[in-house]
Amino acid sequence: MKVIVVGGGVIGLSIAWRAAARGMDVTVVDPVPGGGATGVAAGMLAPVTEVHYGEEALLALNLDSSARYPDFVAELEECSGLRTGYRESGTLSVARDADDLAALDELVAYQRSLGLEVERLRSRDLRRLEPALAPGVRGGALVPGDHQVDPRRLGVALLEAGRRLGVSQCRQRARGVAPGRVSLDSGEVVVGDAVIVAAGCWSSGLGGMPADVAAALRPVKGQILRLRGPAGETLAQHNIRGLDAYLVARSDGETVVGATVEERGYDTTVTAGAVHDLLRAALELVPDVAELALVEHRAGLRPGSPDNAPLLGPTEVEGVVVATGHYRNGILLAPATAAAIVELLDTGAVPASIRAFSPRRFERVAS
Ligand code: GLY
Repeated sequence: MKVIVVGGGVIGLSIAWRAAARGMDVTVVDPVPGGGATGVAAGMLAPVTEVHYGEEALLALNLDSSARYPDFVAELEECSGLRTGYRESGTLSVARDADDLAALDELVAYQRSLGLEVERLRSRDLRRLEPALAPGVRGGALVPGDHQVDPRRLGVALLEAGRRLGVSQCRQRARGVAPGRVSLDSGEVVVGDAVIVAAGCWSSGLGGMPADVAAALRPVKGQILRLRGPAGETLAQHNIRGLDAYLVARSDGETVVGATVEERGYDTTVTAGAVHDLLRAALELVPDVAELALVEHRAGLRPGSPDNAPLLGPTEVEGVVVATGHYRNGILLAPATAAAIVELLDTGAVPASIRAFSPRRFERVAS
């Protein structure tokens, strides 16, 4: 089977790698693989910490994908010979004041009502666990199963693993999709048996996309900061989540502080206000952030959808499948998405794990 994947972010590259491992002939169409939201994402894998009221179906998919991560990265690292920065760090939610604490207690109660593993911590225990935290923090909660990966390393490893299995890269921009065809900006056409659209929020701009799918997707801007300390020194052992910002500290000395959530169309301007707000929130949580070098500020565009859940599966266009709309969970959902889409390609049946995420569920919204 010949598969064309439009979009070379972690979702597209994961599908390409898994499809190639299943013996399929795969081409990825993207002018700059890894250059979209993947290159900006912090890489916190936090299905429990970031659970939201009313999103239980999404939680099930997020937990499934999180459980797949250890095997996914182990196989990927072996297949590519490269590291992904996956670290079983656990995540601490941290309250700075009484208001934060009230919100945190509500979240912990909700997490417990869902049977999720979370431990409420008093301020002293919290700081014993994570000495980098500010002395004034009021309390927190540990989610031992929420971890981290380095999305940039993950993208590079996926490219290399795919290359070793014969995945072709077409470094051009796709203009449109149709049954068995992807047309390129250059006027050329790539043909195959199946087309997978995994181009994040840009999926909606492709010609030939069903109107309901295109209308359901929107860019949601996220600004992040990258900071760097001495190589080999990790600022914090856990992911740190406050109400206004989170920190993902890696073992190579990088710390990512994220992220704004802004409805500004395709604008990717980095604003002084966002840099200020993110730094202030990060410093309130971990004062040693002040000692790090600020090496990068970037804005990425998450692919948002009306219910914050991804669009996964066949569309009304024969042979055109979508895998996008992952919103805040793109890095987390790569293993589960790839497994489900490859199973769909292999069997022709929509796997149970993604039935709730049909791209066709927004048909009435569009009309
Ligand atoms: N999942 C974190 C973010 O989207 O900012």
